[in-house]
Amino acid sequence: MLPFLFLPTIATVIGSVSAIPISNQQPLGDRLWRSNGDINNVDSPVGSSSPRGLTGRFLHITDLHPDTHYKTGKSVDEDDACHWGKGPAGYFGSQGGGCDSPFTLIDETFHWIEKNLKDQIDFVIWTGDSARHDNDERIPRTEEEVSTLNEIIAGKFIDTFKKGSAQTLSIPIVPTLGNNDIMPHNIFKEGPNRWTKKFVDLWEKFIPEIQRHTFVEGGWFTSEVIPNKLAVISLNTMYFFDSNSAVDGCSSKSEPGFEHMEWLRVQLQLLRSRKMKAILIGHVPPARSGSKRSWDETCWQKYTLWVHRYRDIIVGTAYGHMNIDHFMLQDSDEVDILDAKERPVFSIVPGDTTGEISAQSRASYLASLREDWSKMPTPPRGMLDAMHELFDDDLTELDEDTGYEASISKKKKRKFLEKIGGPWAERYSVSLVSPSLVPDYFPTLRVVEYNISGLADATTWAESLDQDAAIGSPSPETNKDDASIEKKKKKKKHKKKRPHFKVPEPPSSTAPPGPAYSNQPLTWLSYTQYFANLTKINEHMTKRKKPAGSSANLTNIEVNKAYETDGGHGAFAFEVEYDTSNDEIYKMKDLTVRSFFKLATRIAKDSSDKSFFPADNTNVDDQLGNETDTVDNVDYDDDLEPQTKKKKLRNKVWRTFFERAFVGLLDSDDLDDISE
Ligand SMILES: *[C@@H]1O[C@H](CO)[C@@H](O)[C@H](O)[C@H]1NC(C)=O
Ligand SMILES: *[C@@H]1O[C@H](CO)[C@@H](O)[C@H](O)[C@H]1NC(C)=O
Ligand SMILES: *[C@@H]1O[C@H](CO)[C@@H](O)[C@H](O)[C@H]1NC(C)=O
Ligand SMILES: *[C@@H]1O[C@H](CO)[C@@H](O)[C@H](O)[C@H]1NC(C)=O
Repeated sequence: MLPFLFLPTIATVIGSVSAIPISNQQPLGDRLWRSNGDINNVDSPVGSSSPRGLTGRFLHITDLHPDTHYKTGKSVDEDDACHWGKGPAGYFGSQGGGCDSPFTLIDETFHWIEKNLKDQIDFVIWTGDSARHDNDERIPRTEEEVSTLNEIIAGKFIDTFKKGSAQTLSIPIVPTLGNNDIMPHNIFKEGPNRWTKKFVDLWEKFIPEIQRHTFVEGGWFTSEVIPNKLAVISLNTMYFFDSNSAVDGCSSKSEPGFEHMEWLRVQLQLLRSRKMKAILIGHVPPARSGSKRSWDETCWQKYTLWVHRYRDIIVGTAYGHMNIDHFMLQDSDEVDILDAKERPVFSIVPGDTTGEISAQSRASYLASLREDWSKMPTPPRGMLDAMHELFDDDLTELDEDTGYEASISKKKKRKFLEKIGGPWAERYSVSLVSPSLVPDYFPTLRVVEYNISGLADATTWAESLDQDAAIGSPSPETNKDDASIEKKKKKKKHKKKRPHFKVPEPPSSTAPPGPAYSNQPLTWLSYTQYFANLTKINEHMTKRKKPAGSSANLTNIEVNKAYETDGGHGAFAFEVEYDTSNDEIYKMKDLTVRSFFKLATRIAKDSSDKSFFPADNTNVDDQLGNETDTVDNVDYDDDLEPQTKKKKLRNKVWRTFFERAFVGLLDSDDLDDISE
């Protein structure tokens, strides 16, 4: 077996490993051989009814937005929504337009998942919005439609992942509520309410029995995706969402957001006592940059404090809603709970609206993220690159003056590390946002690879079901904690409103850094971003059935008919957009917070900052082309390339981040336009 683990490292150090061209990549094909090796399939206990052990991968799918009213050939204008008029609405969906997903796209996506991912993943996280938008005045949504669409999608997950002919799942699927999964959209009242009661049934196969009551109360729950090792906590971000006018933040005890944070704290505390780890998932991410934010500030404050205090427990967090591929950092230095009650009105971070205006406001949001990142502590010159090695070892290594680091003052290094919360950058936490399946740009899926070393013998979810062992079986503590929350709830009405809550305990001072900070079992190692090129696929659908020699275009009906006749499965496929394990631009060794801190620093780098360049700029092209430049220049200059027309330097890491945010759909001119 090839030493695949070295690839990212080599790419980082010498920056010369060429990426595998997309056309040569098979879905997961290049990943199978280099997966967490020894654990594949071989370790299932003999006689176990589970076909395999852990694979070290999971799927993140988000914002499906199925729409039964979608029709090929309709207008993609926002008012028409691919329901009306005449236009270019494509057979598998309309990329970049104001339309939701046709069922052709939904069906092909599940078909592709079944064929390519089903046996390659350990669990699925599905972060909401499984109904169409309420964007057509001529066909307003109904409650029944919203829940039927959700029922259909839940059914597709069950069909795709069912074990044999039984209605049992082979792997756990963890859903979360989106702002379009309810009526009217965005408005979600305190539980129990009709939606929590509806979804507890729709998601019967996904919500552990023991969590049903909790879910009805608040729309949140926990699922032990690797029993006794790893839990996925499904947050109900509707209670944090600034656009939900039925609730008011997380500071007042009477608010469901307050209760949600209490519940989350208790869950994390419990997982700590059980020596387990957690993934947090939600629909609306804790976006907050410049003057924009998507959560109520009081909720953001608590969340940021919680994830900082439980940094030994939380493996990673994943969100949807925004439909653009990006990540955000929460800075624990910005936690100032008592001050968070009153804040000036912020503008809402662009969410799930479509169209050109939205692309522009998303671009300005991304620019404000970059602006924020530019204010983070800057590593001493030459150290950004060295951070990899530095971070590989523990802090004591710093005391050894290697030749490489000799030129950098130790004092500066220490100061920098202190500023970012030590060598693991523990001041920060990261939230990942996957782009959507609905083709605001192109439809996407994300597969995350995580470390399963030492977990070969872990009981899988399916095994524990087989053994009739209760998933998330009630430990005495759970009951006690639940009971105390219940009690608090009853009491709260008689108490005066004042900011008061239990501050979570930090990790013990002897605890090693958590899996989000240093590579260990359960640490996220990389992700592969898949996309379906609808331009290509829809074109193919139109062309393939054209009678030879005929120049007449087929009607859509004819195309559809032809498609239905042969099933059309050949036409639709997801391909790799990029894979962080071998990506030359991002150069991410793993998905730890330090890796994202480093990436954010490189994205934020200001190309007009002369200090990154030799005084004489005329020779800058040569400098940039030289990967083996001096230590001081290598990391900085490597990221910058001369812009062809303007004699300006451009940060290619930022440019790539920006392109990827829009799933590669927008061309250079589009991007220039919206980034003005
Ligand atoms: C997983 O973590 C262990 C440390 O516990 C480390 O030695 C190993 O290299 C990691 N595996 C991968 C694939 O990074
Ligand atoms: C998608 O396909 C079109 C048509 O084949 C092609 O021009 C375009 O470059 C492709 N886009 C991406 C991101 O691969
Ligand atoms: C045929 O289709 C092409 C592209 O799909 C379009 O540009 C052209 O106008 C169509 N021709 C007719 C006669 O409809
Ligand atoms: C790259 O830089 C090194 C050190 O400055 C120099 O020795 C080497 O010739 C340069 N290589 C190229 C291809 O310019």
